[in-house]
Amino acid sequence: MIITIDGPAAAGKSTAARMLAARLGFRYLDTGAMYRAAALAAMRAGIDWKDPAQLEPLAGRFRPEWQGSRLFLDGEDITDAVRSPDVTEATRFVADSPKLRERMAELQREIGRTCDLVTEGRDQGSLVFPHAECKFFLTADPRERAKRRAADYAAQGKAIAWEDVLQAILERDRADASRPVGALRRPPDAVVISTDGLTVEEVVAEMERIVRERQARLSQSQRD
Ligand code: DC
Repeated sequence: MIITIDGPAAAGKSTAARMLAARLGFRYLDTGAMYRAAALAAMRAGIDWKDPAQLEPLAGRFRPEWQGSRLFLDGEDITDAVRSPDVTEATRFVADSPKLRERMAELQREIGRTCDLVTEGRDQGSLVFPHAECKFFLTADPRERAKRRAADYAAQGKAIAWEDVLQAILERDRADASRPVGALRRPPDAVVISTDGLTVEEVVAEMERIVRERQARLSQSQRD
């Protein structure tokens, strides 16, 4: 079974997706981290990451590897490195590259063929797994999202004012919505959950309830 969770930055997708996957015994896929890995690779290769043409050769050979929850590129553990604000900023440009998106979709579907999956990103339900059995779209007020992301940075020892984080989030929202390929879209068949004022446990409980219901319906229709 494939479960997709899409939505804007800092809507609480990652934590909810990780917890939901753990409860169901499914694999969890953080596709944002894959895009971040591509941005890191481009930065390190001295590529002008705002130029999609320069990213094309990188896209062809790009193969980040997951080992549990750690992400490796060319043998190096880059899980923490991809979370820096510099990489975050570069990623929204890198994610515009249609060639790179094609490559990502290929790698993501490869993983989806091998296991039950909770996959989280922007285009998972709309483009990469349009036939996913269960789709969610998580949203939250931008100010709420900025406060959450600022708290994440603070936990990493990075003091960034939430107002600055809000500006960055609004820019990423604009970039996510206007991307020529893989733009953030709510799949028409997705269950929309607004996470404002909800704890992550409440969000996950609601998602799990919906998934279990769907699993029961699917196995009933297989028996009929
Ligand atoms: O979810 P995140 O903040 O880690 O995502 C990092 C960037 O990657 C963000 O700018 C949007 C982009 N992204 C994307 O375009 N498609 C995805 N499936 C996941 C992330």
